[in-house]
Amino acid sequence: MKTYHIAVIPGDGIGKEVVPEGMRVLEAAGLRFGIAFKWDEYAWSCEYRAKHGRMMPEDALDTIRRHDAIFFGACGFPGVPDHVSLWEMLIPMRRRFDLYINLRPVRLMPGIRSPLAGRSVGDIDFLVVRENTEGEYSSIGGRIFDGTARETVMQTATFTRHGVDRILKYAFELAQSRPKKHLTSATKSNGITITMPYWDERVRVMALKYPDVKWDQYHIDILTAHFVQHPDWFDVVVASNLFGDILSDLGPACAGTIGIAPSGNINPEREYPSLFEPVHGSAPDIAGKKIANPIGQIWSGAMMLEHLGVGRDDAGAPWPQGRRQCDHKGNRDAAHRRSAHARHRRDGEHRRGRKDDRGRTLTVPIDRRAPRQNHWHPPAFSFYLFTFSLSSSPLSSCCLSPHA
Ligand code: IPM
Ligand code: MN
Repeated sequence: MKTYHIAVIPGDGIGKEVVPEGMRVLEAAGLRFGIAFKWDEYAWSCEYRAKHGRMMPEDALDTIRRHDAIFFGACGFPGVPDHVSLWEMLIPMRRRFDLYINLRPVRLMPGIRSPLAGRSVGDIDFLVVRENTEGEYSSIGGRIFDGTARETVMQTATFTRHGVDRILKYAFELAQSRPKKHLTSATKSNGITITMPYWDERVRVMALKYPDVKWDQYHIDILTAHFVQHPDWFDVVVASNLFGDILSDLGPACAGTIGIAPSGNINPEREYPSLFEPVHGSAPDIAGKKIANPIGQIWSGAMMLEHLGVGRDDAGAPWPQGRRQCDHKGNRDAAHRRSAHARHRRDGEHRRGRKDDRGRTLTVPIDRRAPRQNHWHPPAFSFYLFTFSLSSSPLSSCCLSPHA
């Protein structure tokens, strides 16, 4: 059975509550799909920082460098300014591991109400592809003449051809793989007149390679309005780091809540482990109350499986239906043997193969509350697809500590 080595970093706040739920669902999916996980858990967090003076050990990135993926909860808690906690943990991972894609699906799910009038399931279903290593999130800059009338601060946005082209290529390929084949680029070249016209120029060049993809572009201000008024217009939306950050909170909010939104911080070349985390952040306002909704974490786990290639054969094709179910040892052929058994279970009866004194096969009613060996069901929610009737939690996007 294939075993995946996963670095687990629950982090702060509700990260510590939702990550174990995500792991339970992944374990259940593993049983079903014939894969196993070796979880290596790391307590790196603001709490760790209080004890050790840093968010994570000096060699942390080397420690997890060879894992297949990182299953991440959230980072940031009051007491440590956000720009410190995030830039000592999450951002270095995104950069050192070159996780240059931040893929954030936006989908209106069954059981969730959109705040937009008249929108139902199917009306909102797009992907935000956010550049994740450069752009406006730059550490180039500084402050001079501190505390004087000449106090000056500067931070320089960085757009490299390498960085812009690779995010655009990924987004165009993604658009090409979807039925609508439609890409939207977020820009602001009417106001930010050096980097954004450059971004637009690279979009035009890249588009030539994908003639079957329809593409358009909007300035970020009107684009946010269109997200609210016409969310059905969008399929794949590609954006710089900051614009993508904003759009990937606004999109899920239009789809009802950021509380269930997932994300993949991806290195498509697989040189480093990709990192999967919910969009909601550590939400200190509800941490410890046991009311956090784990769907964002669970959905991020589903993205992780997809990235790892679970459910696809070596050529990238989806497993045919019959191969998808496995017994507890990962034996997929058992699925066929089990189907008759499953039919009886559905009818509320379970054949044990024993005979009564007249030679008739005994049927025994199933006690659904009793644990069944080898058929483990995650107790709280049998699979994330079926759980969207759970109410959504009012999560904040990140920690936003009072000290920030
Ligand atoms: C996100 C978060 C982070 C970001 C913050 C917490 C640094 O908002 O993952 O969207 O802006 O990237
Ligand atoms: Mn954000």
